[in-house]
Amino acid sequence: MGKEPHFPDGLVITVDGNSGSGKSSLAKKLAIKLNWSFLDSGAWYRALTWATLRAEADTKNEAEVLATLSEIEIHCDSHGKVFVDGEACIDCLRTPLIDQLVSEVADHVSVREALNKRMREMACTSKAEGLVADGRDAGTIIFPDAALKVFVRAGLSVRAERRFQQMQRSGIDITLPEVQQALAARDAHDALRGDAAPHPTVQSRILDNDNKSLEEAVGCLLTWALQLQN
Ligand code: DC
Repeated sequence: MGKEPHFPDGLVITVDGNSGSGKSSLAKKLAIKLNWSFLDSGAWYRALTWATLRAEADTKNEAEVLATLSEIEIHCDSHGKVFVDGEACIDCLRTPLIDQLVSEVADHVSVREALNKRMREMACTSKAEGLVADGRDAGTIIFPDAALKVFVRAGLSVRAERRFQQMQRSGIDITLPEVQQALAARDAHDALRGDAAPHPTVQSRILDNDNKSLEEAVGCLLTWALQLQN
């Protein structure tokens, strides 16, 4: 960026979308460009799932998951990395087991409310100028007063192809149709969460991410973000 931008303090930008839409990569890149904090709400759900398993509690049992949350300290750093009881969750969040169980944790309404509260509290104490948060309901439920709400759209086949390439690079043995089927199943499951299901608000800017490179899409977000300047 050329001249240093000046924003009002404490601004929040939310970037929501379906699984594989690219929202996390985009939100993270935007936070770096703005020198703001980044909050990956999906990683918080994953960390809570990990902590629930560590406590030998049942991810399907709402009371047990809620009790686990009340017993842990959870926060993230300005790069979005999540810590549970002071320990960085690095390799433990994106395992097949967490992939499989995280949506059970995210289905519990009281757990969502409690986790959202923790995320908001952390955002309030953040020292950075602003915060970029990504998720499914970051703009609708977690930060309803966000200054800019973005909803990232991408078709199922495009999302599947991107996820497939990522998985291949990580050495995961899976076929493209399997990836597409898993994404479709996650979309259907996410859509059952009522108000928390991924959807744009009336104020949202829609980012069509079917045919854009990462740089083009970040450029688009940055243009919208810079419009928030003083
Ligand atoms: O974006 P992700 O795959 O890391 O999300 C992990 C899970 O958490 C996924 O099942 C959806 C859920 N989630 C949610 O319900 N609400 C959010 N704001 C973020 C994630």
